[in-house]
Amino acid sequence: MAHAKFSLFTGCIIDTPVMGELRILVDGALGIDRSTGRIVGTSESSATPAKELFEQWTGQQVSEDDIETTGLLADQFLMPGFIDTHTHAPQFSFLGIGHDLPLMDWLNKYTFKHESEFKDPELARKFYKGAIDRVIRNGVTFAAYYGTIHLEANRILADTIRNAGQRAFVGKVCMDANSPDYYSESTAESIEQTEEFIKQVLGGQGNCPADTRLVTPIITPRFAPSCSPECLGALGELAKRYQLPIQSHLCENPSEIEFARQCFPECTSYTEIYHKHGLLGNRTIMAHCVHMTAEELVIMRDTGTGISHCPTSNFTLGSGLADVRRFVAQGIPVGLGTDVGGGYTPSILDAMRMAAATNRALIASKRLSGEDLSGRDDVPLEAAEIFFLATQGGARVMGMAESLGSLDAGKLFDALVIDLSAHASPVPSAESTFAISCLSDPVEAWMLRLEQFVFLADDRNISRVYVGGNLIHSKC
Ligand code: GUN
Ligand code: FE
Repeated sequence: MAHAKFSLFTGCIIDTPVMGELRILVDGALGIDRSTGRIVGTSESSATPAKELFEQWTGQQVSEDDIETTGLLADQFLMPGFIDTHTHAPQFSFLGIGHDLPLMDWLNKYTFKHESEFKDPELARKFYKGAIDRVIRNGVTFAAYYGTIHLEANRILADTIRNAGQRAFVGKVCMDANSPDYYSESTAESIEQTEEFIKQVLGGQGNCPADTRLVTPIITPRFAPSCSPECLGALGELAKRYQLPIQSHLCENPSEIEFARQCFPECTSYTEIYHKHGLLGNRTIMAHCVHMTAEELVIMRDTGTGISHCPTSNFTLGSGLADVRRFVAQGIPVGLGTDVGGGYTPSILDAMRMAAATNRALIASKRLSGEDLSGRDDVPLEAAEIFFLATQGGARVMGMAESLGSLDAGKLFDALVIDLSAHASPVPSAESTFAISCLSDPVEAWMLRLEQFVFLADDRNISRVYVGGNLIHSKC
């Protein structure tokens, strides 16, 4: 594959460019131009000779020798890579610990303490490689990472991700207010080092088009209470000047919301704080958004701001139940985030299950409290919709819907080969699943197979991981 100009995949191909609409090519074909890392075309049938397919797709003469073909096996399928719209790389250092604490106590007891240890670049050098490899093994081709406040450790994190071949937004965390002495910075440091980090990351990658750049800096005020108004305003300016995405936390927990309101009494809501400082827009990712007023959702919609739904973390830290149906009904972009280490797992598959559980719990509690369930409020999220949140939904939240999220021609080939009968697979065979073995229509069978993937699979089923056409992880 390394030397061929084009790659061809044949077999089952599944994606969902529109929420609720699954696209299944049972015996399809998908071609990639390796020089650009982009998909050149797809076909519903793999029966056409490869050379002809590529000639149709590219409008050029193509030789058989230019094509490397990968035929997927009967229980394998190709899908877009998972997108984790919110995670914290340093927090892998205390994964699974402290989930009995609410957010503010968890931050004070574990998070700030362990993040502060990354002032030692040697620790970053030793630690980050294992964390990033673990994210990749879980099929995450594109993630929005928080680093720490430390310039050098963040540079090491960005290099580690680029060397691993993963696509990412990486943020230098800003904390110039209301933070512990041992883990805070001055306003000037916060702003200057953010700009220095931007220059280092952008400078290290030449002049490639923004959508093919592997690692992009992301403006990262930790959350409004950890930043002064001056800092928030300057970060908004930096985002504009360098045309960069922005990430932060919003309305995660009642005590945190109260803290934000106390820090910014002149703002009418938590969301208004970010809005006032020029931090909302269609390249902004706000994590959690569990407790949003109707007015706040209107601001989110009107600014095009995306929501990273982090259901695992919302359960483990007891933050509450975020209402995906409500966000979608408002036209707000929604994707999934693992929020490690508020969430205990870097698996987007786990986040998908937790998104389903959150949605069911919300419906049940609304019924119990006699709330009006109109429109689609009482329709449980289907597997296909959750699959959308983990792929195309995430791409939209990251401001990359034109380039990523589905397997359409012209998009970057960030994709996974899934093997449902991998060694020790937690997904039972199709033959032993009577609901599937009795079906004669292969599309219907694959729809149920996808449901099983969503609710049962784990990293053992993720056989190969591609980013921009490059294989970055393989089980075999
Ligand atoms: N709010 C501010 N910082 C954090 C963090 O590290 N994790 C979560 N879940 N919420 C936050
Ligand atoms: Fe977080």
